[in-house]
Amino acid sequence: MFSLREHFSVTKNDHLALHGIDLVDLCAEYGTPLFVFDEDCLIESFERFRRAFENNYSKVIVCYSIKTNNNLAICKAIREKGAYAEAASELDLCVAETAGFPGDRVIFDGPYKPEGVLRKALEDRVLLVNVESFAEMERLDRVAGEMGVEQAVGLRINPFKSHSFFANVNPKNLIRAVHGYPECRFGFSLRDAYSAYERATKLRNLRVEGIMMHPYHGAVRMLLPLMREVHERLGIETKYLNVGGGFRPETTKSVRYADLTLDLVRQELGLRSTLGDKGGSGEDIGLIAKSITDEVRRGLGDLPEPTIITEPGSFIVGPSGILLLRVDHTKSASEFKWVIVDGGTNIVPSISVFSRHEILVANKAASSPEEMVNVAGPLLYPDDVIAIKTYLPGVGEGDVLSVFDCGAYTISSSTQFLYPRPPAVLVNSRGEVELIREKETCEDVLRKDGLRRVRD
Ligand SMILES: Cc1ncc(COP(=O)(O)O)c(C=O)c1O
Repeated sequence: MFSLREHFSVTKNDHLALHGIDLVDLCAEYGTPLFVFDEDCLIESFERFRRAFENNYSKVIVCYSIKTNNNLAICKAIREKGAYAEAASELDLCVAETAGFPGDRVIFDGPYKPEGVLRKALEDRVLLVNVESFAEMERLDRVAGEMGVEQAVGLRINPFKSHSFFANVNPKNLIRAVHGYPECRFGFSLRDAYSAYERATKLRNLRVEGIMMHPYHGAVRMLLPLMREVHERLGIETKYLNVGGGFRPETTKSVRYADLTLDLVRQELGLRSTLGDKGGSGEDIGLIAKSITDEVRRGLGDLPEPTIITEPGSFIVGPSGILLLRVDHTKSASEFKWVIVDGGTNIVPSISVFSRHEILVANKAASSPEEMVNVAGPLLYPDDVIAIKTYLPGVGEGDVLSVFDCGAYTISSSTQFLYPRPPAVLVNSRGEVELIREKETCEDVLRKDGLRRVRD
């Protein structure tokens, strides 16, 4: 017998239930595709993350990264537990405000901050603007001056260093090298960082209070020497040390090219696919938080102790969302059984052949997996897959697949390409079901095209 995740159970008629709520019944009521969010799981993930840091360090701010899932009910639920918000666009600022985050609990990030949006952020009195370029710094200083405010800023640092020719032609780097290492454009390079600080200290309407890097890997090692240098040479005290996001949920599983290649060889030899058993799982947040906070304490020396800011997104909201998809039909092609479902990368853009999302058949919840299938979405792209080489009980038309860990970068990143976007419900341990996003209609999609004018 397989093990079910916490909060899930199987009903007498073999249906998957969340907090006792039959998921097949939810599909009958709301249709498919349907996002189902577990409020308890959401809160537990947030609390686990916060505790992991607070158990090791006294001054911690957890900024929920709004873009990960900008649904108002989700944002509000996290805000009520004490989260701050990380906003990265005008839309994010608007979501944060509407979900009830006061300005002094919002930090403003992102590589593109037009003047009007900076103005809004300053009107909202955000806690920090994390500046990413000299141009942005000058613009922000001017806007702040015009508004008669002094704005606290952080500087986003990018640890990227130019690579040698040989490193560039290394197959591991080649594609990124050809694209000019796209990630290097965020923030100030280590080479420019000191001059950025120097420049910021000369701008009358900015007050440097923070330093930031994203994702968190290696952030403390990179940032502490710079904090020390600007403290000693420029007298800048770093109040906020922001290590960004990038914390993988403990339930996340993915495979690498090597695993896929090896599996292809197994397939050629007629052996069973082992992809389902693989997948580096997510990280232990307790260990990560401890290593970050230990590193900060060890490296600070006589520097004043900063508040550590974190910007988690996926860790908090990823595991709380499941996606229910209806099987439209199955077919055989290229030795595989293909299961065609009614939602794909249009609503889960981050899913790919590398992801290993757990899938259960909601109307055959206790049945054992018996056949290997590929699950594909409704789009016209070959890469529109939900899962490859996954083992499910025998499935056919009308069955409902529940795809786990679909809370992050789904609702906020989905498109209306070919299909209006699906609804979402929030459920909790009291057995309550709340519709938190209505199903879109074709009219909704067309409304901004001036549908009425066409009909006249
Ligand atoms: C600046 C910044 N902070 C936080 C996040 C959230 O990242 P994650 O969902 O991986 O935690 C992102 C994601 O792109 C980001 O760009």
